[in-house]
Amino acid sequence: MSAKDHLIIFDTTLRDGEQSPGASMTRDEKVRIAKALEKLRVDVIEAGFPIASPGDFEAVKAVAETIKDSRVCGLARALDADIDRAGEALRHANAGRIHTFIATSPIHMEKKLRMTPDQVLERAVYAVKRARNLIDDVEFSPEDAGRSEIDFLCRVLEAVIDAGARTVNIPDTVGYNIPDQFGALIATLRARIPNADKAIFSVHCHNDLGLATANSLAAVRNGARQVECTINGLGERAGNAALEEIVMAVRTRRDLFDCDTRLDTTQIMNCSRLVSGITGFAVQPNKAVVGANAFAHESGIHQDGVLKHRETYEIMRAQDVGWSENRMVLGKHSGRNAFRARLQELGVVLSSEEELNAAFARFKELADKKHEIFDEDLQALVTEATLET
Ligand code: KIV
Ligand code: ZN
Repeated sequence: MSAKDHLIIFDTTLRDGEQSPGASMTRDEKVRIAKALEKLRVDVIEAGFPIASPGDFEAVKAVAETIKDSRVCGLARALDADIDRAGEALRHANAGRIHTFIATSPIHMEKKLRMTPDQVLERAVYAVKRARNLIDDVEFSPEDAGRSEIDFLCRVLEAVIDAGARTVNIPDTVGYNIPDQFGALIATLRARIPNADKAIFSVHCHNDLGLATANSLAAVRNGARQVECTINGLGERAGNAALEEIVMAVRTRRDLFDCDTRLDTTQIMNCSRLVSGITGFAVQPNKAVVGANAFAHESGIHQDGVLKHRETYEIMRAQDVGWSENRMVLGKHSGRNAFRARLQELGVVLSSEEELNAAFARFKELADKKHEIFDEDLQALVTEATLET
């Protein structure tokens, strides 16, 4: 895969994901998740924010010392102490990266940082140079880029690329953008910044309006070659773009994207279960790709279609993301074909069409009273029906 058609997956479950209230993780938990992410073959693992606490420093250090096949990254504000601490945590990494950031939107500069735009620009360049003295691979983010003024954003990005940033990441920090607008922003930045081709353009979208995945994909269609995301979409407030959605959208719609990831997607469910188990954040049943119902069919029309040809109602294979198989749920919407197929799988042989009809009628009665009919229910109602006929 060449650099042009390689979409870099930067997983920030252990950093931005952990910033979800109640999702903090111990050092050992972070190492376990990092190993699963390495097996998933993510390119970059953002392991934490080393200055945030001694525990997080130790966690980033332990991940950096354990992981060999993914790059390990630590976050740092554009401050000396943050950058030096990140450099220290990453000292023994096989491949490390410092990710430094400062806000560039008018509201953040004026109300939060109390700095002028010129001071912010100067600080951004200083931070990148300081990080580059510690490590080769430096990423810079203009925080709240999604609400920043385009001329200023261009000036800052051109200057940090000159200062040695290899990746420039465009965060929609508060999930304010919509897909057309965000895609156009990436296209404009790449066209207007004279040294744009010296850096990889990355995006980092939050999900406040439920648009994090859509915005990330719009950016990829406009030349972004790194996406920052988290397993199960964990993250601050409404979360970050969900890794599994981005990766499967690009893989499933290869006709629309001129790039792909190098992930082993069969490891997705493993990572999803691990992150959910460790953080205690349950995955909603109808969550795309990793929800319990993502590959389940209950309606008779759908079940009949899938039994005849899987692709009538499935755009991905359950096995490709690590489910053992798709699931036919027997409930009140199910039809005779799915019912018959399940009985065959259970080894139940009905001797006549009459017996099948009686069993199916009992099944429908029961399905009106119960959300899901399990194999034990089927066995019982078939016995009753055969006694009846
Ligand atoms: O959302 C954000 O802006 C961030 C930055 C630190 C990249 O998480
Ligand atoms: Zn973020």
